[in-house]
Amino acid sequence: MRRLSTPAYENVVLVGFMGSGKSSVGRLVARTVEGRFVDTDRLVTDREGREIASIFAEHGEGYFRQAESSALRTLVGRSGLVIATGGGIVTVPANGPVLKKLGLVVWLKAHEEVIWERVSRNNKRPLLLTESPRETVRTLLEARSPMYEAVADMTVDTTVLTHAEVAERICAWVRGRG
Ligand code: S3P
Repeated sequence: MRRLSTPAYENVVLVGFMGSGKSSVGRLVARTVEGRFVDTDRLVTDREGREIASIFAEHGEGYFRQAESSALRTLVGRSGLVIATGGGIVTVPANGPVLKKLGLVVWLKAHEEVIWERVSRNNKRPLLLTESPRETVRTLLEARSPMYEAVADMTVDTTVLTHAEVAERICAWVRGRG
């Protein structure tokens, strides 16, 4: 079975809050370790044939979580992947063991202020279409941080780092353990 260019991990899995840079960093890591980039949000939208906002609007969050969880499971058994996950994937407890089984789990962490600054630039995220999105970010981040921490093998605080710097740290870790 093909593994990432250093053989310690089958795959690299990025978890973290919306706006933590999972997709951008994931693409960079994939390029460096010669892995294939996969985004669970994209797996869901491809399968459903529509955007996340429309899935939430029509079927609700529970439906999305099921679709996301089953998309994640389709990756089990594959290798050489760098996987960016949706920010809420950890809220389904059964996803924890699946994430861990897939490979090295990296939590991209960032201070709340920075997350807010990043996510408030666009309004595509259905969970933030609330009366007070700022407050929603605070509440969700507080609730989810222990969940990210529980699944993570490695944490990178991205608050003051560029995507390239974050990717470099992850690749260094992957190589160091190779
Ligand atoms: C969500 C995060 C989104 C997407 C969906 C729900 C969440 O992905 O899966 O809007 O619950 O935090 P990103 O983390 O890539 O924005």
